[in-house]
Amino acid sequence: MFIIRPIENKDVDTVVELWETCHLTRPWNHPEIDIFRKIQQKDDLFLVAEKDHMVIATLMGGYDGHRGWIHYLAVQPKYQRLGIATALIQNIEKRLIAMGCPKVQLMVRAENHAVIQFYEQLDFTDNKVTCLGKRLIPD
Ligand SMILES: CC(C)(COP(=O)(O)OP(=O)(O)OC[C@H]1O[C@@H](n2cnc3c(N)ncnc32)[C@H](O)[C@@H]1OP(=O)(O)O)[C@@H](O)C(=O)NCCC(=O)NCCS
Repeated sequence: MFIIRPIENKDVDTVVELWETCHLTRPWNHPEIDIFRKIQQKDDLFLVAEKDHMVIATLMGGYDGHRGWIHYLAVQPKYQRLGIATALIQNIEKRLIAMGCPKVQLMVRAENHAVIQFYEQLDFTDNKVTCLGKRLIPD
């Protein structure tokens, strides 16, 4: 059994290790900075799944007043295909609906084909948009 709860400061090191294991980090990004920025938002939308006092999965959610967002969905490899990511998605969807959020979306790196199948079976569809980005603060 596992529980889902908002992230706490004590989880940071484990979360970074999990993201590295799941290949979600990139050399030009600093995961600790991403985590601390998000914790400061205090919106309880950055969720972790915990089993036997260990963080085994994450989902960094957000709501910008127009769209809900999902980032950093990751499950420890040995706990994959047990429904944990599905439970995290269902949990964030409930939280977003309770905030009045009408639509949730996410970005997938082009090379990450497996995760697209995961999202499609949860009724996510391709928005067919090009995502542009610009860095405002060099970390
Ligand atoms: C994608 C990921 C989060 C899925 O987590 P999970 O807990 O294993 O997912 P679930 O057990 O809830 O999967 C539910 C269903 O999604 C589909 N699915 C999950 N992983 C899949 C994969 N790798 N390939 C194809 N379909 C997949 C299956 O239909 C699965 O049901 P089944 O196990 O009965 O066949 C996990 O594989 C992961 O952490 N990957 C590495 C990190 C990553 O790429 N994150 C996404 C960043 S955008």
